[in-house]
Amino acid sequence: MSVAKASAPGKLILFGEHFVVYGMPAIATAVEGRTSAEVRRADRYSLVDDRPETPGYKREKGGQQAESIKLMFKAMGLDASKASIALGGDLVAASGVGASGASCAAIAAAANAEFGLGLSREEINDVAYEGEKGYHGTPSGIDNSCSTWGGFIWFKKGDSGGKSEIRPMESKGRFSIVVGNTGITSNTTKVVEDVKAQMERDRAKFDRIFEEYLRMSGEARTALDGNDLHGIGRLMNENHALLREIGVSCKELEEMVEASIGAGALGAKLTGTGRGGLMIALVTDDTKAKVASAIKGTGFKSEITGIGAEGVKVIR
Ligand code: PMV
Repeated sequence: MSVAKASAPGKLILFGEHFVVYGMPAIATAVEGRTSAEVRRADRYSLVDDRPETPGYKREKGGQQAESIKLMFKAMGLDASKASIALGGDLVAASGVGASGASCAAIAAAANAEFGLGLSREEINDVAYEGEKGYHGTPSGIDNSCSTWGGFIWFKKGDSGGKSEIRPMESKGRFSIVVGNTGITSNTTKVVEDVKAQMERDRAKFDRIFEEYLRMSGEARTALDGNDLHGIGRLMNENHALLREIGVSCKELEEMVEASIGAGALGAKLTGTGRGGLMIALVTDDTKAKVASAIKGTGFKSEITGIGAEGVKVIR
């Protein structure tokens, strides 16, 4: 019996979560942790999800996951009731690490191989984007793009349903990041809605914040392309301050950001949705162990990861 298997990396947003929803550029990178998907032709639908997880994540997202798979199979012109899917890999399914984007890209690539559809990488990304709609009402597309293309991605969402600009970046930076995990699964749709409601109440404040972010995102791109670690770190701190101002940080994230800086990180910020989820700290070989243990000292889990990893690939 045939079975196809593909894997795709998770992602971390380095710059621009939330701002990306309003058409501003964001920069994300693929991480070392990967989700694998096996897809096999079958008489009836089945799903086995063996991904490691932040406790409660898979139960919370179960309904959205079923919807996501349905949407992807529809986009590929396939019948999901004739497929058996098994998910695994070492990417811990948690808010902020692009777990849904990684699983969508891996499922799309494995289904493409199993059913011999001949889709290009760009088309696999389009299918994975359809899958992301099952998780977030209006995804920006940055997660699935990162999981599909790998490396560093400069991303700008298309205007009112138009195509997004997705540019793989030059940066070959192989620096390390420490990821701190609040253990809280945040609800992206709700946090995005809250930000929007706030913006509608105070346009002037948001205009100023958006302007500052736009300047910062241009500088971040230059710093990344030039491998300017100190510049990247400083800009991460500035980006975090803006995210705090739009109300998406929380006590747990603030504690970890502060501990990281205190332990010598070049910069630290929340990553992804916020109000739970993850934070990241930029570290050197000399500081990574110290920063990871400072985060643990605040009572949360931390992990060191390389970034700029390879995009989706078929394993067999
Ligand atoms: O929590 P994550 O990693 O899925 O990131 C969400 C990023 C947002 O900008 C808040 C929403 C989006 O769709 O881009």
